[in-house]
Amino acid sequence: MIPRNSRSFGREILVPGDKSLSHRSVLFSVLSKGTTYVSGFLEAEDPLNTMHAFSRMGLKVDKKGSGEYLFTSPGKSDLHSPSGELDFGNAGTGIRLSAGLLCGIPGIHAILTGDASLRKRPMSRIMKPLAAMGASIRGEGDKAPLKIEGRKLESFSYKSPIASAQVKSCLMLAAMASETTLDYEEEILSRDHTENMLRYLGNRIEYESPTHFKISPPYRFEPAEFRVPGDISSAAFFLVLGLLLKEGSILVRNVGLNPSRTGILKALEAMGGRIRIHNRRVECGEPVGDLEAISSNLHFAEIPESWLPSLIDEIPVLTIAGLFAEGGFKIRHAKELRAKESDRISAMVENLRSLGIEVWEYEDGYEFSEPTKNGVSSELDSWLNGKGGNILTNMDHRIAMSFMILRAATGLPLDLDETSWIETSFPGFEKKLDSVLL
Ligand code: S3P
Repeated sequence: MIPRNSRSFGREILVPGDKSLSHRSVLFSVLSKGTTYVSGFLEAEDPLNTMHAFSRMGLKVDKKGSGEYLFTSPGKSDLHSPSGELDFGNAGTGIRLSAGLLCGIPGIHAILTGDASLRKRPMSRIMKPLAAMGASIRGEGDKAPLKIEGRKLESFSYKSPIASAQVKSCLMLAAMASETTLDYEEEILSRDHTENMLRYLGNRIEYESPTHFKISPPYRFEPAEFRVPGDISSAAFFLVLGLLLKEGSILVRNVGLNPSRTGILKALEAMGGRIRIHNRRVECGEPVGDLEAISSNLHFAEIPESWLPSLIDEIPVLTIAGLFAEGGFKIRHAKELRAKESDRISAMVENLRSLGIEVWEYEDGYEFSEPTKNGVSSELDSWLNGKGGNILTNMDHRIAMSFMILRAATGLPLDLDETSWIETSFPGFEKKLDSVLL
């Protein structure tokens, strides 16, 4: 019912470096006294803010080329307190992981803050367990700015009520910085990049089950080399576009394929999407490969709760694929979407409704039937007839990019109120989008 209007043949692209790994490459460099070499670093606002924050505390940053850096750390005990606030911009990962690390370094005093979107996001999820480890961390209520006085923390066991890699990594970094033990359990595995980096540096993690582990000192942090692959969350926009082509395919090379991140591939395949993986390999402890998305007919598929953490960031663009699925689209168990850069449940529901799609909203998700010719609303009719539609992006990069994919796939006009947020994770997105289509 929604027309497909794009073609792409033989187009190969690279996407910028993985955001999660880029943040972590800075944090592990800080812990490793000496010089760490990082390539593929995502030069976007979010990880650059993390890099700048630690450069103000003594991390020496030497840019060698595009995405290539030498980070030289004086060692965690020789970091100094920054003068003035540390601004993490739009980045939940930046502020939450850095808060953990700084809470565990005795003598560091810092105030961590961010933009209007970040200052609305919940911080109690890290403040409570950090306080239980003995940390001194105070917010404005449960929001940033966060005032931290670093100190030696106590060993800690935590059963997390949410599957969040930010919470998990925050506590792991706090334990590492403080040379103390952490026993951590979550119900569903969240992304495990922090665990992979810790192991890559030669540390052991004791597992009781795949979602319950313990880390203990002495930790080993020696300067290493991190090669950051392309971000599957950024590749996802082009994979969905590839599936929605009228004809052809798109190949995205050098993408991180950590199984705790590849839920988007499972979901798209369950919906009938044809995605081929080529050239699988392991780099710096992380699986990597090339992904080819081929024009496909899509249909409804149930998305089980157990897949949610592994595709949480991709739900906006998965929803765009869902608009083309025979039988409609449904996402549930996704309450965490309300705590992202925007409330992504309400952002998606409201934008789809403004285009005339009938959407049922739930506290933890939404659903819609396949937009059909019968009973088409006047707004949908107007959009499908090329009269344009308006999208509110709510300071959220992924909402903006998702609707740009819808515009590219259909060729129908859509006006986005503001797209500058895309700089937080994917500089050059629009140019790349123009470059893949014929
Ligand atoms: C991230 C964890 C996820 C994800 C975010 C990056 C990370 O957040 O949404 O974009 O790098 O640890 P939560 O831990 O809040 O689910």
